[in-house]
Amino acid sequence: TCMAMVGKRRLLSTGSQENQYNLIKDRYDGCQIIMGNLEITQIESNWDFSFLKTIREVTGYILIAMNHFEEIPLGQLRVIRGNSLYERRFALSVFFNYPKDGSSGLRQLGLANLTEILQGGVQIINNKYLNYGPWIFWQDIIRDSSAPIAIRLNGDKGQCWDLTKTVCAPQCSGRCFGTSPRDCCHTECAAGCKGPLDVDCFACRLFNDSGACVPHCPQNLIYNKQTFQMETNPNAKYQYGSICVSQCPTHFVVDGSSCVSVCPPGKMEVVREGHRQCELCSGLCPKVCEGTGAEHRQTVDSSNIDSFINCTKIQGSLHFLVTGILGDAFKKIPPLDAKKLEVFHTVREITDILNIQSWPKELNDLSVFSSLTTIQGRSLYKRFSLMVMHIPTLTSLGLRSLQEISDGSVYISQNVKLCYHHTVNWTQLFRGRSVRVNNLSNNKPRAECVAEGHVCDLLCSDSGCWGPGPDQCVSCRNYSRGGTCVSSCNFYAGSVFTSTFLMLRCVACHQECKPQHGKPSCTGPVSSYNYTRTFWPSDLISTLASIWLFSHP
Ligand SMILES: *[C@@H]1O[C@H](CO)[C@@H](O)[C@H](O)[C@H]1NC(C)=O
Ligand SMILES: *[C@@H]1O[C@H](CO)[C@@H](O)[C@H](O)[C@H]1NC(C)=O
Ligand SMILES: *[C@@H]1O[C@H](CO)[C@@H](O)[C@H](O)[C@H]1NC(C)=O
Ligand SMILES: *[C@@H]1O[C@H](CO)[C@@H](O)[C@H](O)[C@H]1NC(C)=O
Ligand SMILES: *[C@@H]1O[C@H](CO)[C@@H](O)[C@H](O)[C@H]1NC(C)=O
Repeated sequence: TCMAMVGKRRLLSTGSQENQYNLIKDRYDGCQIIMGNLEITQIESNWDFSFLKTIREVTGYILIAMNHFEEIPLGQLRVIRGNSLYERRFALSVFFNYPKDGSSGLRQLGLANLTEILQGGVQIINNKYLNYGPWIFWQDIIRDSSAPIAIRLNGDKGQCWDLTKTVCAPQCSGRCFGTSPRDCCHTECAAGCKGPLDVDCFACRLFNDSGACVPHCPQNLIYNKQTFQMETNPNAKYQYGSICVSQCPTHFVVDGSSCVSVCPPGKMEVVREGHRQCELCSGLCPKVCEGTGAEHRQTVDSSNIDSFINCTKIQGSLHFLVTGILGDAFKKIPPLDAKKLEVFHTVREITDILNIQSWPKELNDLSVFSSLTTIQGRSLYKRFSLMVMHIPTLTSLGLRSLQEISDGSVYISQNVKLCYHHTVNWTQLFRGRSVRVNNLSNNKPRAECVAEGHVCDLLCSDSGCWGPGPDQCVSCRNYSRGGTCVSSCNFYAGSVFTSTFLMLRCVACHQECKPQHGKPSCTGPVSSYNYTRTFWPSDLISTLASIWLFSHP
């Protein structure tokens, strides 16, 4: 069985007839089941569509519009599932199939084997020459009794469908292969059947498991009635469209018991033992986004700011130029709303450079980048990877999470109100890799900053700070709890939020620990804390790993 994965295509496509025809042929040639929609539009006569004759099932909708052929070549088609609908209503939509000038066009539908539309309705309108076909008893075919049926044209001929539903005995819940009460199809059948069994169906209502129609594919866990236990099913299968398969096809990912083309929101693709599968993200799912700097995307501006929503990594650079912040009358791009810059709160990594040459006047720091930990500097501007210049409103950088500038130097210059940047131990951020020469000229003089009290919080270490307060330290003098420096971990506070001491960080006791008064509530952050354990929870391992990295630059 061949499958064609088909996405949504726009009705008005451009390109020559030949391109259009080849596109359709490439997509559907040899297919029996179309996973997705079947769209045939704007095809003039004389093209050979016999390759569509193999199609038995379409999982989405069928759209036949603005073509000039005389018959829809879909004689084998039995089922339209309508998992997606055209204009949100129609599983089958046939309109305007005749040329503006000329005397031929679609004359008959030719869907003689179509007996089931599982969801959605039918629209057949404005087909000037259509005679045979539309006068089918559509109620017999359309399962959803509330689905719309829009049939409009002149003429009244033809009726050559086999009824499979309305003629059935009342005992049949669905379709039948004869009029007697013994002639009911199996309840899992769609489109009718040739006998009473689940292997006699013309098509399956839900899933096809090696020829038998079943309500769900063989599941991963099955109940053992003897042992009263759930057991792993060695014959479990995944659902792939309307078929049960023991392995997902290449390019598909396992999500639970299904094969999907992309993981759903909130999950990300991982490879486990050579198999691709979807797993829940802890927090925001990783999302890599294109940066700015290319000709069509020179600066962050109001026209592209939404492309940065939920990005965790910028592939490339971020440039903030005056044409982006204040707008570009020439290119008709309006000014950028300062609130919109909040989207950058999710960015943790930039692979190239961060270049800020213009900034909204409402903002006096760069704290929209408060999650940014790494600027890689893979390609540099001159020799710089962090540039902040001529921002008159800037009083502090506010890059509280920045821990590493992997390559390139820092250019922070001509920001007349800027303080705190003098305090930062940039060498530490460079991790000792290569010699770098910063240019930190013509900002507010250090002496003036100190005189005005713009100095680091006492809880910050000598590595400096990004701005005022204990949450802007590059590192802590004592301990850090949730990114803020504290003088001690309150072992003895006794509340559920009691913290404990793990190297330099305070980590809350596990929530199962009973708060103790006047003594520590726990000796570590997990409910059964034991240094000899071979299995450690992954969040603890990553905490330890990041502490280790931090103390071993
Ligand atoms: C309908 O399906 C049957 C069985 O597959 C086939 O023999 C017949 O040719 C089909 N009808 C048309 C018009 O293609
Ligand atoms: C189920 O799939 C098999 C191929 O695996 C196919 O031969 C059979 O016709 C299908 N049955 C139905 C009812 O779609
Ligand atoms: C961003 O992520 C949130 C939370 O995961 C989600 O609800 C939202 O739809 C996402 N927005 C976009 C544009 O991706
Ligand atoms: C900055 O950090 C480096 C590396 O950690 C260290 O060797 C150096 O002494 C620090 N400089 C200052 C002024 O603290
Ligand atoms: C820093 O940049 C300014 C402006 O481009 C320049 O005039 C100055 O010479 C530079 N200083 C150093 C030390 O490179």
